[in-house]
Amino acid sequence: MDRHLSLSQAARLIGVKRGDIQKKIQENKLKVMEGTVTLLDLKKAFPEAQYEDNTMLEKVEKFMRDAVHKMAQSEREGAQIDALSRRLVKMNQELADERKHAEKMEELIYALKHRLMAINLGDNPEHALNDCKDWFHAEVRNLEIEKMITPIDHMEQQIHQFMLPHVRLLPSRHDFTSDKSETLLESALRSGLAVDYGCNNGKCGKCKAKLLSGKVEKTAHQDYVFSESEKAQGYILTCSNWAITDITLETEEAVSADDIPLQSITAKVKKLQTINNHAIIMTLRPLRSQRLRFLAGQHIELIIPEGSGGSETELQAEYSIASCPCEPSTLEFHIPVNDQSNFGQAIIKHVKANDTLKLKGPYGSFVLDEDSPNSLIFVAWDTGFAPIKGLIEHAMSLDNADTIHLYWITRKVEENYLENLCRSWNNALDNFTYTPIVLESKTDVVAESLIKHLHNEHKHLLNFDLYISAPGHLNHLLKPLLLANGVKPENMHFESTFHGDEIND
Ligand code: FES
Repeated sequence: MDRHLSLSQAARLIGVKRGDIQKKIQENKLKVMEGTVTLLDLKKAFPEAQYEDNTMLEKVEKFMRDAVHKMAQSEREGAQIDALSRRLVKMNQELADERKHAEKMEELIYALKHRLMAINLGDNPEHALNDCKDWFHAEVRNLEIEKMITPIDHMEQQIHQFMLPHVRLLPSRHDFTSDKSETLLESALRSGLAVDYGCNNGKCGKCKAKLLSGKVEKTAHQDYVFSESEKAQGYILTCSNWAITDITLETEEAVSADDIPLQSITAKVKKLQTINNHAIIMTLRPLRSQRLRFLAGQHIELIIPEGSGGSETELQAEYSIASCPCEPSTLEFHIPVNDQSNFGQAIIKHVKANDTLKLKGPYGSFVLDEDSPNSLIFVAWDTGFAPIKGLIEHAMSLDNADTIHLYWITRKVEENYLENLCRSWNNALDNFTYTPIVLESKTDVVAESLIKHLHNEHKHLLNFDLYISAPGHLNHLLKPLLLANGVKPENMHFESTFHGDEIND
């Protein structure tokens, strides 16, 4: 059995960069078919992978031989053993993560105790306690972020990933792996694919897809009733099935913002976090039977209904979505809390956890060009980081870009409100770099300084796609400067920030 691997899977399997695989293909040393390479060809092109003792490749082959043998013995028994071993690997990983997290919490509590003991109540106790509270919140948030970004590339996990059922979508030829811990729809979204769906619980039928080959198993009851013709053609609901073998599905995917319908949904406020008195990070959880279908980088209209939390009128404003469609159960927004932002002030005054807000959208075409082979440069000004965060998380799910570079410009260090998240990306991913730029200057100076950074670090910008989320007048200044530095017009993407602070000239 010769396994087909996507270029990213092949690169991870033998521990080289995706670019190295592409180079072998360009040199005709590795055959590529429909975007995949075979394990056999990979071994020929990278023979050194065979010489190491106990290599991952050998482990994978052994797993595959064992799996085939088990299947020949009894397909059902094999499937059960496979499911149990996956569960065991996953539980082991979770246990290790939880232990690490518990140790860090213990350290944090110890440090908090010392801080509290050191507070001098004689001076300004209220101020000292507030400082201590801010410090504690920041530390807890760091721990949460670290937990979210547990490195996922150690060997056992890669092998585990490799052995999961593969799903191929037609006509797009997109591939992803699927685990019995999630439905086909969840796996597709986690892999950054814009497949169609609605209720996420077997009612609306929007997620239906034609099963062309392989086997699936139902995960939950579904209310949607297929017609006789759909049944005969092998249609399934991706929100209520998982894959138990490699499968091929026929389904449509959104290729541009025009393919995403306008929706109205309601969502509960899950968390409100004010950071450095500069921005509120608001996370919403859509009601169970409602999901917002959107592309990373788009924005929506947020509505505080009349009467909510004592608000006398309905309030609405547009904000970029800071989360990625790969996590449809959570929507994140970054709301500036300066005096000019009425909505920000209303959130502080009227909105609390568990309140219900309305959402309308999505809007906008500030989305990733997924067909482009270029490396990616992201530039954010202040809370313009929101859509950039969504785009970066989406680019990570797709795992297509050779390199990703993030530049986040703020006027003060403390305005860089998710510094730890950016640093964690920088530490966890070998193809990611993060450059904070702190500049309290006029717009033209900011523009020139950014161009200088880009020029120094990348020499020429011909093979980059740039995504810039900043105030309109900064975007306006940057455009001709980027053109003069070799960026093609079709590779520049701008978003004018929503309700962000303007640069004072
Ligand atoms: S998303 Fe509604 S049935 Fe699957």
